[in-house]
Amino acid sequence: MKLIRCKDYDEMSQIAANIVASQITLKPDSILGLPTGGTPVGMYKILSEKCAAGEISFEEVTTFNLDEYYPIKRENDQSYWYFMNKNLYSRVNLRPENINIPNGEASDPQKEGARYDAKIEAMGGIDLQVLGIGPNGHIGFNEPDCCLIAGTHQTSLTDATIDANARFFAKREDVPTSALTLGLGNIMKAKRIIMLVSGKNKSKVLNQIFEGKVTCENPATMLLMHPCVTIIADEDALNG
Ligand code: GLP
Repeated sequence: MKLIRCKDYDEMSQIAANIVASQITLKPDSILGLPTGGTPVGMYKILSEKCAAGEISFEEVTTFNLDEYYPIKRENDQSYWYFMNKNLYSRVNLRPENINIPNGEASDPQKEGARYDAKIEAMGGIDLQVLGIGPNGHIGFNEPDCCLIAGTHQTSLTDATIDANARFFAKREDVPTSALTLGLGNIMKAKRIIMLVSGKNKSKVLNQIFEGKVTCENPATMLLMHPCVTIIADEDALNG
């Protein structure tokens, strides 16, 4: 596991954007795994600007998002589809047919999980998975639990995650309590992973990773078992 120390959020975003940009420069038909949340917004802005400036192209890129609330309609302004469209997809030259997000409107979440997994496999797997991390150590929506699931699945959100995500909603009661997420097996199969970590509220779970023990209480510690992970963390997260 490699660590890149950044002075602040902006430097973290710039470094992450540079890594994604070099990935798609070296392999124009890259398969990217992408996260939502506040953390990657700066990275998406820089990538959009690089694309507008003609420095990079998403024309042959395929994306798979990590997760989506469930059930939720795509056009709901709280859906991750809406978030991704606003922050990246409407701002770069990705082909709509190359964008994949778990379907929050699927009638059968189990079937939707199997469909999503099969599509990732059929495409040859994720080349670069970008991750954020929840204040409780969740990645995607893989919450702390004694049972960690390998494939894409429906999951209940913990109170801690509902609290953390309430800032994006008018009131806490509006936060969905369930989601579809890639499983830890999907994430671990990615060829390369970068994880962006910013803010003092992430320092506890970040330090748990550095302790070197894989635990179900902090699902992100699973990344210790992956051969190619780079953590890009700002000073607040490192010293919080
Ligand atoms: C959300 C997403 C995660 C994200 C995490 C951190 O709930 N499901 O994929 O990494 O929480 O979000 P933030 O970057 O806003 O702290």
